[in-house]
Amino acid sequence: MADLFDKTNIGEMTLQNRLVRSATWEGMCDQDGRPTEKLINCYRDLAKGGVGLIVTGYTFVRPEGKQMPGKMGIHTDAFADEMMAMTRAVHDEGGKICIQLVHAGGQTDSRNARRQPLAPSAVQTEQFPEVPQELSKEEIADIVHAFGDAAGRAKSYDFDAVQLHGAHGYLINQFLSPHTNKRTDEYGGGIENRCRFLFEVYRKIREIVGSDYPVLIKLTGSDFLEDGLNNEEAVYAAKKLSEEGVDAIEVSGGTPASGEQSPARTKINRPEKEAYNLELAKNIRKAVNCPVMVVGGFRSYEVADKTINENGIDYISMSRPFIREPDLANRWKRGDTAPAKCISCNSCFLPGIKEGGIYCVVEKKLREKKQESS
Ligand SMILES: Cc1cc2nc3c(=O)[nH]c(=O)nc-3n(C[C@H](O)[C@H](O)[C@H](O)COP(=O)(O)O)c2cc1C
Ligand code: SF4
Repeated sequence: MADLFDKTNIGEMTLQNRLVRSATWEGMCDQDGRPTEKLINCYRDLAKGGVGLIVTGYTFVRPEGKQMPGKMGIHTDAFADEMMAMTRAVHDEGGKICIQLVHAGGQTDSRNARRQPLAPSAVQTEQFPEVPQELSKEEIADIVHAFGDAAGRAKSYDFDAVQLHGAHGYLINQFLSPHTNKRTDEYGGGIENRCRFLFEVYRKIREIVGSDYPVLIKLTGSDFLEDGLNNEEAVYAAKKLSEEGVDAIEVSGGTPASGEQSPARTKINRPEKEAYNLELAKNIRKAVNCPVMVVGGFRSYEVADKTINENGIDYISMSRPFIREPDLANRWKRGDTAPAKCISCNSCFLPGIKEGGIYCVVEKKLREKKQESS
């Protein structure tokens, strides 16, 4: 029987348990993308809390790939000291840290990107105000190189792994999806062509970091859009990635355009609503040879345990539960297996935009109430 607290390996990386802090934008960097002491402390707390692997918030590989304020950048060597302090802080606590690499593509605006956003096609996506500029082949090649350079930097800063962001409607997902990719050249059309950009990025990274360094991907299992990438196509991409040697696939689903099926769904208030990407992940698990992680709505120990034991999934990934309880892994390990306290309200986004960093608003209010009454 698999146990959530099994020690496992992903490539050359040994993990203390099967719990992963899924990539979570914290909004704790300066306007250029330089990490702050607050962000380093956030990762230190997560490592102290016992989670097996921390995936950082999405980190832009080129300046125009930036989306949210306070997002981290790895487009330059200028932040090497802060990045090395970050990996040291996690390693000193016995943790492991993987950096998530992203280009936001058309899902940004010129205020954050500091230019007109770039995308596979000039298709405006829901919730984003500008029509992006279609990428030329030269620009595609430049971005592929930028992903490779970013991964090389990450390895030299002692990150234990890199993870490509291939979900939630960002650039890699934009190429994969017929909803946003209307190209008529070799990057558009059938799924083989729509995968081309992803594979160019993956191979460039592999060329730079070598065959032993863990390269992971967070892959959309479906866009949940009528004209978007479907699960069958995602399985095709996952199978090919596995054949090429990707070290693990974290399955998510949806984009900001997917309405109630967006990546961070609300009202996860009973076990049946948990694990909302599990069916997508199960289909991917059957097709690949590498470990599979699944993210989306995990809140209870029992659902997590069942997922690894009955569905062959290797890792359980969570984001919001660790915002409210950075020590959730240690709490479950100690035997207090009550569900995560997160009520999936998404109120934590706002302080990331307005107050220089996310935190659990519900927990803060509760503490203030307790203090008032004591
Ligand atoms: C505040 C916040 C920031 C997020 N930032 C990222 C990110 O940087 N990269 C990413 O892949 N997903 C990001 N997500 C999505 C989560 O990783 C996760 O896929 C989603 O919240 C569902 O998992 P959960 O139910 O465990 O929260 C973010 C979610 C939240 C709530
Ligand atoms: S504000 Fe707190 S309870 Fe609400 S989603 Fe964020 S972490 Fe969970």
